[in-house]
Amino acid sequence: MSILLTGGAGFIGSHTAVEMINAGYDVIIADNLSNSSEKVLDRIETITGIRPKFYKVDVAIKGDVRRIFEENKIDGVIHFAGYKCVPESTKIPLKYYRNNIDTTLTVLEVMEEKNCNAFVFSSSATVYGDKNEVPFNENMPTGGTTNAYGSTKLMIENILKDVAAANNKFSAVLLRYFNPIGAHPSGLIGEAPDGIPNNLMPYITQTAVGIREVLNVFGTDYNTPDGTGVRDYIHVVDLAKGHVAAIKYAMENTGAEAINLGTGNGSSVLEVVRAFEKASGVNVPVEFKERRPGDVEYSYASVEKAAELLNWKAEYDLNDMCKHAWNWQKKNPRGYNE
Ligand code: UFG
Repeated sequence: MSILLTGGAGFIGSHTAVEMINAGYDVIIADNLSNSSEKVLDRIETITGIRPKFYKVDVAIKGDVRRIFEENKIDGVIHFAGYKCVPESTKIPLKYYRNNIDTTLTVLEVMEEKNCNAFVFSSSATVYGDKNEVPFNENMPTGGTTNAYGSTKLMIENILKDVAAANNKFSAVLLRYFNPIGAHPSGLIGEAPDGIPNNLMPYITQTAVGIREVLNVFGTDYNTPDGTGVRDYIHVVDLAKGHVAAIKYAMENTGAEAINLGTGNGSSVLEVVRAFEKASGVNVPVEFKERRPGDVEYSYASVEKAAELLNWKAEYDLNDMCKHAWNWQKKNPRGYNE
C-alpha cells in the first residue's frame, strides 16, 4: 500500500513517515523543502532502514502532482503541506490563503482524476475558535478563527466536507491537532524552526541550550490555576501514530470525519517549563510578559472520538515529551543545519 505524504519532510510529516514505514506502508514524500531539510530522508532511513521515495516538488503545481500519481500507484494521501506560522499569517494573509488552499485543491483535483479517494488532512484545534468550552469535542461549532492560518484550516475542512458530500467514494479524515511537541526518541528527527521560534517548546529548548537568553511567558492573568495559558501538549510520535490509524480509517470508510488528536490533559505554560527543567536538569530563565494577541485561555481535547473511530490514544506523558525534545535539541543544536 503506497501513501503520499505531502509536506512529509516537515516536523509532523517526518515523524509520520517513520510510523507509516514501521506499520508496513510504502511512503512517498512530496515536499518543496520551503521549511524543511532533505537531510530528514537520511534520518528516516537510519531509524527505519528504509528510504522513502522523495519528490522535491511544490504540490500546488498540478503537473508535478500528476507525475507522482503516474509514476506510483497511490492508495491514499496525508496532506501536511502548508504554511503554519500564525504571526506571519496575520501580516501576509494572501500568502497563506494562496498556498494552503491551492495545494489542497490541486492535490484533490489530481486525486479525483486518478480515482484516489482516501485523504487525511492536518487540521488544527484552532478551528474551535474562542467561544467553546473545554474540552473541545468534534460536535462543537467551529469558527471565530483569529488569524489567516487558522482560517485556511477551517476553509479546507469545509472544502473537504463538500467534496465528500458530492463523491460517495471519497473519504476525508480532518485531524484536529492540539499542541504537538517532543521528538523521536532516537534524537534523529525533531522540530527545526527557521529563525526565532513562535511555539513554546522549541523556545524552551533553544533557551536551555543557550541560543535564546530568556523565555517570555505571555500572559499571567488568565483564569487558570497559575494564571498562564493552558494547552493540550501531545507527543509528536503519538500524533504520528494517529495518522497511521487515520489513513487506515479513510481507506475503509467514506464521508468526512473531524477527529481530535490530543491527550485530553491541559498543562499551563509554567507547568511545561517546570516539567522541562525536571526532565533536562537545566534551568530555564523566564520573563513575564503581556498576553499574546489571539491566544485563548484554555485549549484541550475531548479524546473519545479518536478512541472510538481510530482505536488510538496518546501514550507518552509530558515528562517524555520534554525528555525527547531536549534529547533532539542537544544532539542537533542548530536543527538540520550542521
Ligand atoms: N507561549 C509563551 N511563550 C512563548 C511561546 C508560547 O508563553 O515563547 C505560550 C502561549 O502564550 C500559549 C502556550 O505557550 O499559552 C502555547 O503556545 P504555542 O505557540 O506553542 O501554541 P499555540 O497554542 O499558540 O498554537 C498552537 C499551534 C497553532 C495552532 C494553535 C491553535 O502552534 O498551529 O495551537 O490550535 F493554530
